[in-house]
Amino acid sequence: MAWNGRHFLNLAELSCEDMIGLMKRASNFLDAGDRYEPNAPLDGKIIANLFMENSTRTRCSFTVATKRLGGDYIDLLVETSSASKGETLVDTALNLEAMGVAGIVVRCSQENGPNEIAENVGIPVINAGSGTSAHPTQALLDAVTLTRYFGTDDLLGQHIAIVGDITHSRVARSNVIGLAKLGAIVTLVGPSELLPNDLGCKTSTDFDGVLSTVSAVMMLRVQFERDAKVGEDYHEKFGLTEQRFANFHGAVLHPGPMNRGLEIDDNVANPESSPHNLILSQVTSGVATRMAILEHLIG
Ligand code: CP
Repeated sequence: MAWNGRHFLNLAELSCEDMIGLMKRASNFLDAGDRYEPNAPLDGKIIANLFMENSTRTRCSFTVATKRLGGDYIDLLVETSSASKGETLVDTALNLEAMGVAGIVVRCSQENGPNEIAENVGIPVINAGSGTSAHPTQALLDAVTLTRYFGTDDLLGQHIAIVGDITHSRVARSNVIGLAKLGAIVTLVGPSELLPNDLGCKTSTDFDGVLSTVSAVMMLRVQFERDAKVGEDYHEKFGLTEQRFANFHGAVLHPGPMNRGLEIDDNVANPESSPHNLILSQVTSGVATRMAILEHLIG
């Protein structure tokens, strides 16, 4: 079914052209630098950030994006909201809508939570990370970062490895969809116990073998809070070590937060390590990408 542009819930709904349109707009915002959008498309509008799981990058970048578009925002966090008394996600969203907010940005542990909200409210809903299934704004900002690095509109012919705790990663699931739509070949790499084989792309447990064939590598955090278990040899086998990095000339991404010294060495993670380290560029792209999404849905 074609994307109707009302909500932003999952990249599976968007076409390659839909993605590229939003990515080009995000790129315009990046080229314009850190300034307020003069047309202020969100002037007079309030966006609700409904975050039932913790976040640094996603929540703050939606806040910055909203303000740059001339809008205002409210933050609703699980610890301080009536969700802590058992109020459902949909009831919470209905109350926010009744207050007159123009859109809801939601992060939650429920896989289908953002979709359920979208089915029950009349305002745009943006998925800012749901369970282990989807993090579509992250995948779109990753695509913006990669296309700007490669100097292309799409990712046709690029081979990209996603490495680490794939099982618990909503970033991996959304990137598998988004990167494929843009023409990239994706290989998932990790220890077999964290490497599902039903995501529709190649898998491998041989990081070094795959690293020598890819133009970009996306390192993932081991999600101990979701009970991920790794062996003592994880860093040796699947970490982006200084030695591996020295022999790799492609782009390095990590959605954050990072376990420094586990999936990525300290010196590789540092922003000044190399122009191929795109980790903070991803964060900058995140603001611009979320501006493009908010403008399209609400502006
Ligand atoms: N990449 C990402 O989603 O980071 P946060 O959890 O800090 O938002």
